[in-house]
Amino acid sequence: MKLGTKAIHAGVCPDPTTGAIMTPIYQTSTYVQESPGVNKGYGYARGKNPTREALQDALAALENGNHCVAFSSGVAATDAVLKLLSPGDEVITGDDLYGGTYRLFTKIYEKFGIKFHFIDLTNPDNIKAYLTPKTKLIWAETPTNPTMQIIDIEAVAKIAKANNVLMVADNTFASPYLQNPLDLGADIVMHSVTKYLGGHSDVVMGALITNNKELHEQLYFILNSSGANPGPMDSFLVLRGIKTLHLRMERHCSNGRKIAEYLKTHPKIEKTYWPGFPEHPNHDIAKKQMRDFGGMISMVLKDKSIDNTFRVASSFKLFSLAESLGGVESLINHPATMTHASIPKAEREKAGVVDNLLRLSVGVEDVEDLIADLAQALS
Ligand SMILES: Cc1ncc(COP(=O)(O)O)c(C=O)c1O
Repeated sequence: MKLGTKAIHAGVCPDPTTGAIMTPIYQTSTYVQESPGVNKGYGYARGKNPTREALQDALAALENGNHCVAFSSGVAATDAVLKLLSPGDEVITGDDLYGGTYRLFTKIYEKFGIKFHFIDLTNPDNIKAYLTPKTKLIWAETPTNPTMQIIDIEAVAKIAKANNVLMVADNTFASPYLQNPLDLGADIVMHSVTKYLGGHSDVVMGALITNNKELHEQLYFILNSSGANPGPMDSFLVLRGIKTLHLRMERHCSNGRKIAEYLKTHPKIEKTYWPGFPEHPNHDIAKKQMRDFGGMISMVLKDKSIDNTFRVASSFKLFSLAESLGGVESLINHPATMTHASIPKAEREKAGVVDNLLRLSVGVEDVEDLIADLAQALS
């Protein structure tokens, strides 16, 4: 099946008791057993829930994977991957990451004796200098949040495989519509399902998808033991959201392209980050591993003052000033004080996340209205 067909049909089937075409919301915490240990495959809802299972099957299919474990947030999914590690292990990751991922790595897991190397992953050769026998994981976000760095998944996965290291790709910004890291050799794909997969800004959820049965068993064990499971209502909402993933992404991409081109020549903008520009670093890699370039754009204002940046961020009428991304409505975000506030200023500025950078999540509205809103806010 192609992606649009999978988005609608994968993982779901008519309810066997009524024929309901939509997967029921099994809003239950437990399941009645005939006698101790004799049940219909469901014991307690932290471990298993049929609505969640339908969603996991759909997400696995969208990523061309065999197994999926869904979590109560993207951060909880990342947390589960780190629980595969032991004190003394080392992780190599990028120098531009979602702020919450950076916070989890540095503020929680460094304390448990895990060492993180935040390096420029845009050149996979940089990895070699940091590989030691203690390296157990390479964590690559691509495109990165918020400077849209493009990391060559296939090249990084090759290095990981050759050194017996796990490679995880955070595919949140691309969504499975644009990029399928498992096909390029990644061991695990991570999603903040909250974003494009949910698509309607009404759910917080995460997911891990893999083709490795043993890894799946370990991750499921962590889910069940640590308890960051998503609820059935949220699972239903995402099941509904992904039915239009391909339609929404088509519009996110076409709106994103027009807005990126508009911003590129705008007199108040110093720099526009969008992987579709031929001069964007690693554009050729983006062209190779992505089907289009998405609706995430960052812009650096020429006026460096924080007052002006805040004035622009608060002047929009259609773009809402909010954290998050990937929903149908357009959002604007100030990473330095919002999504990336947990990264020390010097660290984030090294990666280009300056105080006068604003990030856009371009929605699926009519693009002429979005451009008019940008024009008035920047004026
Ligand atoms: C790239 C990326 N990864 C992970 C996350 C964390 O996901 P969640 O907010 O669902 O916990 C986010 C959230 O913004 C993100 O942008």
